[in-house]
Amino acid sequence: MKFLIVNGPNINMLGIREPDIYGTLTYEGLLEYLKGEAARLGCEVEFFQSNSEGELVTAIQKALGRVDGIVINPAAYTHTSVAILDALKAVALPAAEVHLSDVTKRESFRQISYAGMACKYHFIGLGKEGYVRGMEALLADGQNRDE
Ligand code: DQA
Repeated sequence: MKFLIVNGPNINMLGIREPDIYGTLTYEGLLEYLKGEAARLGCEVEFFQSNSEGELVTAIQKALGRVDGIVINPAAYTHTSVAILDALKAVALPAAEVHLSDVTKRESFRQISYAGMACKYHFIGLGKEGYVRGMEALLADGQNRDE
C-alpha cells in the first residue's frame, strides 16, 4: 500500500519554530524517521509539504488513483480551510488527521478542524508518532476492505 503524507504551512520550520510546542526534530528529520517507519510497516510513502493552500488542494486531488490513503497535518489551514476539506471529500480516500501538538488544549481558534471532518482517523498531540499511527490505521483500514 502507498500513502501520501501531507504537511501544511510552517511544518517545514520544525526544529526552529516554537520548540517548546513542536519539539526540536527538524522536518528533514521527521521525513527520515517516517521513511524508516514506513519500511518497518511494509508500506510506501510519498511526502508533500507546502505553505500554500492551493498547492495542498492540488496535491490531494493528484493523489486520486495513485495512493491508497492520505495522512495529513494541514497545520494552520486545519482551522480555516473549507477548500482542503472539500478536496479530501472529493478524492474520498481514507484519511488520517495528525497534529503534533494537542490542539484540544490550545487556543479556542484551534478547536475547529475543517479537514478533520473528512478524516476517518485522528491522532492529536502524539508528536511524530501521530503520523506512524496514521499509517497503521490506514494499513488496517485497507486490509479490512480487502477481506
Ligand atoms: C499543528 C497545530 C496547528 O494549530 C498549527 O497551526 C500548526 C501545527 C500541529 O501539528 O500541532 O501549524 O497542526
